[in-house]
Amino acid sequence: MSLQVWTHCRAATLVAGGAPYGLLEDAALAVEGERLAWVGPRRELPASWRGAPEHDCGGALVTPGLIDCHTHLVYGGDRAQEFEQRLNGATYEEIARAGGGIASTVRATRAASEDELIAQSRPRLRALRAEGVTTLEIKSGYGLALEHERKCLRVARALGAQERMSVAITFLGAHALPPEFAGRPDAYVDELLRMLPVLHAEGLVDAVDAFCERIAFTPAQTSRVFEAARALGLPVKLHAEQLSDSGGAALAARFGALSCDHLEWVSEEGVRAMAQAGTVAVLLPGAFYFLRETRLPPVALLRQHGVTIAISTDCNPGSSPCTSLLLMLNMACTLFRLTPEEALAGVTRNAARALGLADRGTLEAGRRADFVLWELAQPAQLAYAIGANPLLQTIQQGTPR
Ligand code: NIG
Ligand code: FE
Repeated sequence: MSLQVWTHCRAATLVAGGAPYGLLEDAALAVEGERLAWVGPRRELPASWRGAPEHDCGGALVTPGLIDCHTHLVYGGDRAQEFEQRLNGATYEEIARAGGGIASTVRATRAASEDELIAQSRPRLRALRAEGVTTLEIKSGYGLALEHERKCLRVARALGAQERMSVAITFLGAHALPPEFAGRPDAYVDELLRMLPVLHAEGLVDAVDAFCERIAFTPAQTSRVFEAARALGLPVKLHAEQLSDSGGAALAARFGALSCDHLEWVSEEGVRAMAQAGTVAVLLPGAFYFLRETRLPPVALLRQHGVTIAISTDCNPGSSPCTSLLLMLNMACTLFRLTPEEALAGVTRNAARALGLADRGTLEAGRRADFVLWELAQPAQLAYAIGANPLLQTIQQGTPR
């Protein structure tokens, strides 16, 4: 197995409990194959590693590979026209109720072939990758019928393989009601319960998500989807409390959800339930910003109850047409008042938890050797700059990309 040592760097390991950011001055990272075998101060590098091929990082800052734990990156078309409509006075909810919104992306996605979807989605993935993202979650939810959901999930898998990106795939069939089921949401949930085992058997589902909201699915309908996921042994996550308090967070917690995402309207009861269940709060500053929301997620309450906080782009055509996770770090701080350290933990250690991936998110022995070299002196600079990309190099599973 190949051995390599990376030296002359400052390592923000994100290992909790020690220095801020888990920072190690003058660090060394020893890589064996695709894994980190040893991380620590360079002068303590075990003798067995001396003599292994060495990469001099030139004093760069090193962080774990970034993890974007909530995206809808695979879709057809765009919604620039709805952006214009909103600027002329319509609201996101009004557009959705009038047959636009998610439904308009469903039309464009259904009309696109697998190859067209790959071609349209690839630049988005590459933009994230260019900023140090090494693990990416991609949801379905713009197909809303077996063949189209399958197409989107297959595109997500194919993109991961073609672009050397670790992709976690989430089935979000319960994203919106497709037009052929108008007025019959429960019948559509029946249909979802038929689709899920088929797609799962094809190896296309790592987790199951739903949109529990007054413009989407009720808590009772969401529960039925989650029961089906549980029966297959699949973890769940939930779009909850984005536009109203629907009790989604507590419901997700009852199912031991990996994460609840958005959460601007979550109640203290919901926060408490999440804390007890160990459900991660995924905050999405891009959607908050783009929809010009004014109600902030209750960050102080999340901290007070010890809920783990992750940050993501929510990359999607309607509420967050964003392909910059670094920009989300900045917005998590400026809009939600997270500290730069919380924000960085939110796209590394905590984002890994939101995906149920125990093998990444920090720099320590045994973890995947996914890490990024940045032309920066301080980790806070990652969240500080707006629109900069200080990336020097990404190492994915031990191999420079
Ligand atoms: O996370 N909230 C539901 N889904 C997406 C938006 C989808 C869309 O508008 O196309 C979100 O914000
Ligand atoms: Fe989303």
